[in-house]
Amino acid sequence: MSELVRFSVAMPVELLIQFDNLVARRGLAKNRSEVIRDLVRECLVSEEWDDPNAEIVGTLSIVYSHQAHDLQSKLDQIQHTHHDRIISSLHVHLDAHNCLEVIVMRGPSKLIRVLAESILGVKGVKHGNLTTTTTGKHI
Ligand code: NI
Repeated sequence: MSELVRFSVAMPVELLIQFDNLVARRGLAKNRSEVIRDLVRECLVSEEWDDPNAEIVGTLSIVYSHQAHDLQSKLDQIQHTHHDRIISSLHVHLDAHNCLEVIVMRGPSKLIRVLAESILGVKGVKHGNLTTTTTGKHI
């Protein structure tokens, strides 16, 4: 194994409790660091499997608070900028504060992944998940 580097991570206490439950479910042989390494590897491997020029359809689900400052307008701005790649979106008002948005995108894998990351990277997006399928075409 290459040299290990320590870094600190800040997260809400509720999220940390849930993460520790995940660590516990993975058994005694795993600690927080090992589970974080597993999660990072899982994420990177699923990206590597993609051919960057293969056309994919990506479904991005995000959860956010509609009260977060500027968040809604930033999400709208990104989606309008990439309107040619976004096929459809669905907005669900989950409760008094939280919104679920499902955004369906189509295009070259490399572009759709960057677009998904830019949406996931908007401050205030609490959770997100991209699932992909290929159309069998290359662009
Ligand atoms: Ni809403």
